[in-house]
Amino acid sequence: MTVFLNGRYLPLEQAKVSPLDRGFVFGDGIYEVIPSYQGVLFLLDAHLERLRRSLSEIRLPDPMGESGWRGMLEHLLELNPGGDRGIYLQITRGVAPRDHAFPAATEATVFAMVTPIKPQRPETTAQGVGAILLPDERWGRCDIKAITLLANVLARQTAVEQGAIEAILLRDGRLTEGAASNVFVVHGDVVRTPPLDRGILPGITRRFVLDLLEGHSRPVFEEAILESDLRTADEIWLTSSTKEILAVTRLDGQPVGVGRPGPVWRETLDGYQRAKNDALGARVSENGYG
Ligand code: PDD
Repeated sequence: MTVFLNGRYLPLEQAKVSPLDRGFVFGDGIYEVIPSYQGVLFLLDAHLERLRRSLSEIRLPDPMGESGWRGMLEHLLELNPGGDRGIYLQITRGVAPRDHAFPAATEATVFAMVTPIKPQRPETTAQGVGAILLPDERWGRCDIKAITLLANVLARQTAVEQGAIEAILLRDGRLTEGAASNVFVVHGDVVRTPPLDRGILPGITRRFVLDLLEGHSRPVFEEAILESDLRTADEIWLTSSTKEILAVTRLDGQPVGVGRPGPVWRETLDGYQRAKNDALGARVSENGYG
């Protein structure tokens, strides 16, 4: 695998970062996960916009700029051909003697690698997945896509140990999001997801799904969701760049609705795949692949 590190494309084994990197020492950095299908980065503009916002919120000057990011990401995909893949991109505040306050003049560390996106197994899509509810013990700025993910790691691990694939988090009795996904709930034909604030990540897939639902004239609301709403939901969905839209059919071991992926999920996922293929189709022909 060829990765990108600080301006160079090199084999993963040769990519080395100092132990004094502030990402290693403090978790002082941000990241993105950008999916690509048939060699085309999907919703790249939205990912780059969120990347710039994360950088600006942690007061780290953008080290590459718009065309720098695009060129690097596309070149990295060319160097790692084959299949549907995601790019993991991480930027830290660089290498400096350990001191919490920002170093005076240090270059950011920029790392990117290509990771395979495993298509959901047909059984997973057909049966849905299990999730558990846990208290949201993360910091107060989950709108920043920070690499500092210890609370998310612990929550996901608890979920896995209980045979579930995701932890759905509650703060003060209200749904925030999953440990690595946004969450939607369906009652009847009404779809709801929590509004954006500092407590959740503004998911790119979340936005894409909201636009899709609005385009289908489906009743959809961004509003507070209580634990009781989750427990009585007909459907619960997880969304992320790697999961797309995944139906949760067991919550804390109990069936969600009838315990199978529901009709609103099916319709939305079909619409998502069509919209995705349209968006990619346009780009694939522009690139001369089509
Ligand atoms: N995670 N919320 C959290 C806490 C996340 O970590 C993610 C994605 C999302 C969904 O965002 P998006 O639709 O932009 O992927 C929501 C990525 C995939 C990860 O950490 O691997």
